[in-house]
Amino acid sequence: MATVIDGKAVAQTIRSEIADEVRRLSEKYGKVPGLAVVIVGNRKDSQSYVAMKRKACCDLGIKSFDIDLTEQVSQVDIIKQVHELNANPDVHGILVQLPLPKHINEEQVLTEISLEKDVDGFHPLNIGKLAMKGREPLFLPCTPKACLELLSRSGISIKGKKAVVVGRSNIVGLPASLLLLKADATVTIVHSHTSDPESIIRQADIVIAAAGQPKMIKGSWIKPGAAVIDVGTNAIDDPSKKSGYRLVGDVDFEEVSKVAGWITPVPGGVGPMTVTMLLKNTLEGAKRTLE
Ligand code: GUN
Repeated sequence: MATVIDGKAVAQTIRSEIADEVRRLSEKYGKVPGLAVVIVGNRKDSQSYVAMKRKACCDLGIKSFDIDLTEQVSQVDIIKQVHELNANPDVHGILVQLPLPKHINEEQVLTEISLEKDVDGFHPLNIGKLAMKGREPLFLPCTPKACLELLSRSGISIKGKKAVVVGRSNIVGLPASLLLLKADATVTIVHSHTSDPESIIRQADIVIAAAGQPKMIKGSWIKPGAAVIDVGTNAIDDPSKKSGYRLVGDVDFEEVSKVAGWITPVPGGVGPMTVTMLLKNTLEGAKRTLE
């Protein structure tokens, strides 16, 4: 049976380290890290993610700047808002929750965020540096950083290993593959046009699943002893729950946990770590300007 990696517990440990650092900065400089979270419109999923991020800030003594814009907001007004946050010395991190409404040019908005405040690590220059050997981005994207932190805190080395990333999104799959490559893994990306994904995934020592397909990865696809990190958060109907749904990953946990060496559960795996990495990035941003 696989060792189940407890993301909630690891996240708690890191959060208490962050809270200590926030206190230290506050005592030394009379300032606390500040994170601006911008949300546009009222998508239910985005609202719940943003509420989680804002609450996590408050819990750790990080100041949260809440910017809520209507679905109809113009490109010009979003960018004006980003520029104001760029100029605000109390804001050390800026996050624009994605996806943005269809009429907004997402790439342009992300490009306007100051590189020094790009705590999501989505600015094309930060992604570009992530892709280049010998260059270091100012911030690493939170979910991929969370995956690698879970591997390292579980004592799983990456160097020289075969890693397969399932999915190639700008937010998770692509940056996760770049980060694994930077950590000296041999990396393959499996996506919707890959033929025979099972046979590729079966070769992996490390699997990062970020395809957005509930329970897609089966036990027979996994090399015995592999480390399996499940980024999927798929809501499926469950009439026995008060909400009417429950969250499942991209990995069939019941099957894969019998074969893998390590596995992250959903919920309680990568999820709590992603928000924690956002807080860590915000702290790093604040330290760079204050110290
Ligand atoms: N939407 C889904 N995941 C994310 C994330 O990590 N950051 C932002 N900004 N938007 C998201």
